[in-house]
Amino acid sequence: MRISIINGPNLNLLGKRETDIYGNIPFEQFMERLKSKHSSVEFSYFQSNVEGELINELQRVGYEYDGIVLNPAGYTHTSVAIGDAIAAIKAPVVEVHISNVHAREDFRKLSHVSGKSAGSIFGLGLKGYELAIEYLLSLQPSR
Ligand code: DQA
Repeated sequence: MRISIINGPNLNLLGKRETDIYGNIPFEQFMERLKSKHSSVEFSYFQSNVEGELINELQRVGYEYDGIVLNPAGYTHTSVAIGDAIAAIKAPVVEVHISNVHAREDFRKLSHVSGKSAGSIFGLGLKGYELAIEYLLSLQPSR
């Protein structure tokens, strides 16, 4: 079972960025927790602040991996191209947002990603990534 986790812009600053909204755990630290919890899963983790690099990574893993957990961050609300990439690939994508995007500014209510994804989780903090992984694991027939 291979799961790809892809984070968009500014999520490299988790732990020091607007900690009241995003918490104070760096994502690398959280990744270690995920890996030890799911030792049978082969994870890949990719973060970029660049839209095209996120699309390249979606295309790279999208025909090889069993599922993708994607937090496109600010590009969620602007990127038709990331939505198109999700529609193009084979792996199921779960969209995750740490904060409750529907309880914030209006511009965060638009997602170019939700309609192309298997499902979306928002507002549950880093727990959202864990729930997305649980869902992807549940798709595996051998489990
Ligand atoms: C975010 C929500 C986005 O609106 C914001 O631009 C982010 C993070 C979240 O995880 O809550 O950078 O995707």
